[in-house]
Amino acid sequence: PPQGQSGFTDLDQRINSVTFPLPACMSEQQLLKPDEWSYCDYFWNDKKDPQGNGCITGFEVLVHKQLKGKQMQKEMAEFIRERIKIEEEYAKNLSKLSQIPLAGQEEGTLGEAWAQLKKSLADEAEVHLKFSSKLQSEVEKPFLTFRENFKKDMKRFDHHIADLRKQLVVRYAAVEKARKALSDRQKELEVKTQQLEIKLSNKIEEDIKKARRKSTQAGDELMRCVDLYNQSQSKWFEEMVTTSLELERLEVERVEMIRQHLCQYTTLRHETDMFNQSTMEPVDQLLQCVDPAKDRELWVRENKTGEVRPVDIEI
Ligand SMILES: *[C@@H]1O[C@H](CO)[C@@H](O)[C@H](O)[C@H]1NC(C)=O
Ligand SMILES: *[C@@H]1O[C@H](CO)[C@@H](O)[C@H](O)[C@H]1NC(C)=O
Ligand SMILES: *[C@@H]1O[C@H](CO)[C@@H](O)[C@H](O)[C@H]1NC(C)=O
Ligand SMILES: *[C@@H]1O[C@H](CO)[C@@H](O)[C@H](O)[C@H]1NC(C)=O
Repeated sequence: PPQGQSGFTDLDQRINSVTFPLPACMSEQQLLKPDEWSYCDYFWNDKKDPQGNGCITGFEVLVHKQLKGKQMQKEMAEFIRERIKIEEEYAKNLSKLSQIPLAGQEEGTLGEAWAQLKKSLADEAEVHLKFSSKLQSEVEKPFLTFRENFKKDMKRFDHHIADLRKQLVVRYAAVEKARKALSDRQKELEVKTQQLEIKLSNKIEEDIKKARRKSTQAGDELMRCVDLYNQSQSKWFEEMVTTSLELERLEVERVEMIRQHLCQYTTLRHETDMFNQSTMEPVDQLLQCVDPAKDRELWVRENKTGEVRPVDIEI
């Protein structure tokens, strides 16, 4: 391949110590997972930090997404907690109201219907309490306990990849240094060779041999540094692929988990409606049995003061 000024081929470029193909050679690359929008294919570059002038790596972008997901999960748990509080308070209010003795003296079939209506408030309160306790155990708690050590895990991943990147930077600096040394040695050799052309001398011939040896050594050193750099980069590459695929798996799992528990929320809410309705059934039945004539009969039987009617005076 053609050698550029840098001493490297003209086929690649380095950005923050990572080697990328030049745009002209990019078409040869194919996505690792075509059509999947996989994390492992889209986060190889660094990115300008939106707030601040530093850079964040593609991997850090992925880690931020994960931490944000964890935060959203926590906030959902908080939201559900507020929902639970409303149910509990509502249940308490209903239960309190059902015990207030207002109109407790109503009698007959109407009195029975009224008593059942008041009791239904207590049943309804029970339904709301059950809903709130199920919300707690089947929605809030799973949100709270899902991945308790997540931040620590993410920090571990982040440090691991950052360490590999640091090693890459160090090894690239070594490559640059070795390249500079080789170029110096080559210049030296050139100067000596020119001197020899002007004036033949054993001393200069010796110097040239020495310079040639040094130049060869510098070349070997450069090769050694490039090999080390390549090893670092390929290690970083592999870890980037496996780790970003792991993050991708974790995100799929998180979304699935939340979806499932929100479905559980709607199921519980539907159930509450059904149970809630069922508390009204006995009230409806008794209301159908309310019979003013029967109530009058009952009341009259108990409170009558005499059925013998007055008659006229007869002389
Ligand atoms: C419960 O009752 C209190 C006061 O009686 C009221 O302020 C509150 O809004 C009620 N809560 C619900 C959920 O009905
Ligand atoms: C660096 O990487 C290239 C491509 O993988 C490889 O062919 C080469 O042997 C490695 N080492 C050096 C010193 O170029
Ligand atoms: C339960 O039913 C009552 C009316 O019977 C209604 O006011 C209340 O909103 C219902 N609650 C729920 C949670 O469906
Ligand atoms: C009607 O009779 C019932 C049962 O004996 C009694 O408790 C109630 O006080 C009576 N009502 C009146 C107005 O006297």
